[in-house]
Amino acid sequence: YLKRDEKYNRLTEEHVNYFKSILPKENVICSFDDSEKELLKFNVDWMKKYRGQSQLVLLPTCTEEVSKCLKYCNDNKLAVVPQSGNSGLVGGSVPVFDEIIISTKAMNKIIDFDDMSGVLICNAGCVLADLEAYASERGFMIPLDMGSKKYCCIGGNVSSNAGGLRYLRYGSLHSNVLGLEVVLPNGQIIENLSRLRKDSTGYDIKQLFIGAEGTLGIVTNVAISTPRKPKAINAVLLSTNSWENVQVIYKKAKEELQEIISAFEFFDEHAYSLVKKHMNMTAPLKQANEFYILIETHGSNREHDDAKLNAFLDTIKKLNVVQEGYVSKDDKQTRSFWVMRESVPVACSMNGAVFKYDLSIPMATLYNVAVDMRKRLMEANVYRPGDETSEVFNVAAYGHIGDGNIHLNISCKNYSKKITDLIEPYIYEWTQEHNGVISGEHGLGLMKGAYLGYSKSSVMIDIMQNIKNLLDPNNIMNPYKYLPKKMITKLSD
Ligand code: MLT
Ligand code: ZN
Repeated sequence: YLKRDEKYNRLTEEHVNYFKSILPKENVICSFDDSEKELLKFNVDWMKKYRGQSQLVLLPTCTEEVSKCLKYCNDNKLAVVPQSGNSGLVGGSVPVFDEIIISTKAMNKIIDFDDMSGVLICNAGCVLADLEAYASERGFMIPLDMGSKKYCCIGGNVSSNAGGLRYLRYGSLHSNVLGLEVVLPNGQIIENLSRLRKDSTGYDIKQLFIGAEGTLGIVTNVAISTPRKPKAINAVLLSTNSWENVQVIYKKAKEELQEIISAFEFFDEHAYSLVKKHMNMTAPLKQANEFYILIETHGSNREHDDAKLNAFLDTIKKLNVVQEGYVSKDDKQTRSFWVMRESVPVACSMNGAVFKYDLSIPMATLYNVAVDMRKRLMEANVYRPGDETSEVFNVAAYGHIGDGNIHLNISCKNYSKKITDLIEPYIYEWTQEHNGVISGEHGLGLMKGAYLGYSKSSVMIDIMQNIKNLLDPNNIMNPYKYLPKKMITKLSD
């Protein structure tokens, strides 16, 4: 239903010549120079669900170049999509029409690291896995970890308020990002690369850009607090046959592992069946079960951690809530448990198309969304388990129980309006009715912008719109998404 907004100018040779005059020649990729093939990877998202038709990608190498690019776009009413690793899951980092892509990929240097405070300062285009390797060599770790770490960049992580696998222990980017440098659409630079943990001097402006998905400006540099690398890591893989048992295990893990618990993740039998099928990965699990749980601990004293872990395992054994359980014997096996969990989203997308959701819902009813969705799709006769001709192959649930964040992945042959309409806005309405929010970590992007009303009141949306108007009055930054003109607030709309 979206139409290109004709208030934005179309790209001309003159515009391109300007960008070529301020950026290195090879950092301007334009269809006028027959670079369509190269442009394609910037125009399409990771899932191949969203595809724009941008004719121009700019790869500035420093903050000043970003500032010149944005100012020129703003003055000339050229719409812009900021892009980082382009591994997002909601269509936030690719253009909808012909927006100019400004990629931070050419800005990938680490600027400073302080081994007293653990504060790391780096360019927005640094790849998360590279930052992890850098911190690790110095005895530290990045407080954020996710399956896409080899592709995603810290600027995109910050802009989408990424959550990930360590959130339970190390918290959100709203608390770990100490400072940001951001370029506003008018070219102004907010230099706020603070290294301080505490600051009570007025509004915390940087927070606005964490999770703004490039709608307010472009993050160019990040100051992030890195914790010490744990001296002892333990991982446990469990299987259990009911959601009630999952909750009992979670409560006991929080109680007995307290300060050392670093992750409490799950995937269900539907998710695991795809991992087995596509990744050929089963060991050490022997039997099929309803739910699989991965618990990890990070501590500073192995003996102390082992004792706590054994006490916890004894407790859940006595409660008879677990059918299979394995404690990793070394780092290699710990990694293999994680590979299994991190392979779930990859396996879910191997059938063709996948509809992905990342709902935050209170623990007690968290899994019901999967049960109700399967029922709905079966009643509509599009999901017939065991039938090869079924349009929907699988409805997998997995995610971050410890953070109350469930992923529902609905794997289909193709993306179709019929299936989309069966899922949305039903799933958002369901979430609202169960006191949840429609995105726990993936963000809004093109996928969920119109459904914002399911998670934010009209007063809050008005405030968001006013902030947007203040910082981006020409609305050049990532248009059509996040705060689109048309919002859907009720199923009947
Ligand atoms: C995950 O938890 O694995 C990530 O959010 C990625 C995904 O769901 O695709
Ligand atoms: Zn996740």
